[in-house]
Amino acid sequence: MTSNQKKLLANGLFIAGSLVILGVLLDAPPETTKPLPHDQNHERFMAMDKKEAERFCEQCHATGKQMPLPANHPPPNRCLFCHKRK
Ligand code: HEC
Ligand code: HEC
Repeated sequence: MTSNQKKLLANGLFIAGSLVILGVLLDAPPETTKPLPHDQNHERFMAMDKKEAERFCEQCHATGKQMPLPANHPPPNRCLFCHKRK
């Protein structure tokens, strides 16, 4: 094989591999974690810097507050990683 043919083959394999990965990702189950709600309590966090916004969550979402996290909640640091803003 000439070096050009090798490059062509390598590129072809790369594209084929990428398509397989894309297929797997598109086939993933839909996200089930609830997004940040659009309401009075949360609207102001939509535009805020994420880390900045996360400092406010526990004013309401903590034991003894307005809406504590459920008992089976996963480790709750970085709220907005899981509860997406959309
Ligand atoms: C002022 C109080 C308050 C603050 C601050 C607050 N929340 Fe909430 N949150 C609530 C209340 C009350 C509910 C339940 C009613 C509702 O859906 O709005 C709730 C509900 C939720 C829900 C569940 C939505 C659903 O569909 O059931 C998520 C997820 C959530 N909040 C995430 C967050 C995150 C992340 C932050 C920080 C960026 C945050 N909240 C800050 C009061 C607050
Ligand atoms: C590792 C991912 C993850 C992180 C980080 C996380 N959560 Fe959750 N949260 C979940 C999952 C999963 C549930 C279970 C139910 C669901 O929302 O699908 C949940 C449930 C909740 C609920 C209850 C929703 C309801 O209607 O029952 C609230 C409120 C909530 N999270 C707020 C927060 C807050 C506030 C933070 C940050 C302090 C946070 N979460 C961080 C994954 C996460």
